[in-house]
Amino acid sequence: MQESIKPPVEVRYQEELEALKNTDPDAKKPDNWQMSPKAVRTFILGSEKPIEYQGNKYQIRKKYFGNDALVERCIVTLAGNRGLMLVGEPGTAKTMLSELLSAAISGNSKNTIQGTAGTTEDMIKYSWNYALLLAKGPSREALVPSPLYIGMEKGILTRFEEITRTPAEIQDSLISVLSDKVLNVPELGDDGFLFARPGFNVIGTANTRDKGVNEMSSALKRRFNFETVMPVNKVSLEKQIILNEVNMLAQESHVDMQADEDVAELLASTYHELREGVSSYGHRIDKPNAVMSTAEAVSVYYQTMLTGYYYGDGHLNVDCLVQNLIGAVSKEDKDDLEKVKGYFNTVIRDKSSKEGGLWKQYYEARKWLK
Ligand SMILES: Nc1ncnc2c1ncn2[C@@H]1O[C@H](COP(=O)(O)OP(=O)(O)OP(=O)(O)O)[C@@H](O)[C@H]1O
Ligand SMILES: [Mg+2]
Repeated sequence: MQESIKPPVEVRYQEELEALKNTDPDAKKPDNWQMSPKAVRTFILGSEKPIEYQGNKYQIRKKYFGNDALVERCIVTLAGNRGLMLVGEPGTAKTMLSELLSAAISGNSKNTIQGTAGTTEDMIKYSWNYALLLAKGPSREALVPSPLYIGMEKGILTRFEEITRTPAEIQDSLISVLSDKVLNVPELGDDGFLFARPGFNVIGTANTRDKGVNEMSSALKRRFNFETVMPVNKVSLEKQIILNEVNMLAQESHVDMQADEDVAELLASTYHELREGVSSYGHRIDKPNAVMSTAEAVSVYYQTMLTGYYYGDGHLNVDCLVQNLIGAVSKEDKDDLEKVKGYFNTVIRDKSSKEGGLWKQYYEARKWLK
């Protein structure tokens, strides 16, 4: 397969998925699932011991950090007859989780509807290839299936990204599909009933910051089990995510650099403290309005790494890190910059005098905040 900038999960983790699928000891598996719920859990949360398959050992990497019980509940929901709705702040890995679940359960994370203000009912149900429609009349051949249609036909998961960006009346076309598991194509007459095969279900994601753009109707809400995905709340976990993600991005872009543990920790604690509004020394901090997500921390680090790689001497530059941090924090609200300044002048100052080293460099880089 040709290289791509971001391969789908089933390609990125092809070997892990093959190993899990073929060594899955658990016979208790919902119809049409590629692997058992236990194996899906292992794929997302990692294995303690490497898995042996065809003479090789595969260590299954932990991909989602934070709430293990949430992952289990998501898997169980998908085995039942209600959809799964992942809601939360931006950058809390809702999309990532839905891709991991789809790749493990259905072997396909690409069967996706992208919700926008312009999403129409056709995009959710089906549309027509007009040349074929005119030539042959309405037939399955002339029908252009939507990801939802494909999910029902093949018995695989359909992802619906950013569902609340879609107007509520359009979202509601999901209601009958989710409750009756049947989609009617009136143009096809008696043959126009598509009954969903086992394995079909829907994973929706919705961003709580966009709440109010388009609410979901209560009828639709009842067809989903809601799970709120929270930001990681431990600096050590956030540091681990930054290290893993940055190293993976670098490897995939053939950037020959490794993420540094101390810098990842510094960035993780900055994001954690600004998000929580309190420092590890007990200072109260004025919280910025900007989203302080782990995903943002990963991109600030990676951006700095790329600058060091292409323009610098292959080392990570703390000045550049602070510049990128400013860019990320101040993009929504200019007052946020003042809050970050305040953070540097209190928390980072104290850490600099107590810990020295990298913290001192970080404190000195506050000149870019001017
Ligand atoms: N708990 C976590 N475990 C592992 N990675 C995480 C976690 N939280 C955030 N990340 C990182 O942040 C990224 C989150 O991006 P993702 O696009 O999945 O977020 P999202 O919740 O869908 O955001 P949005 O609402 O903006 O669409 C992941 O790819 C991963 O790098
Ligand atoms: Mg998303």
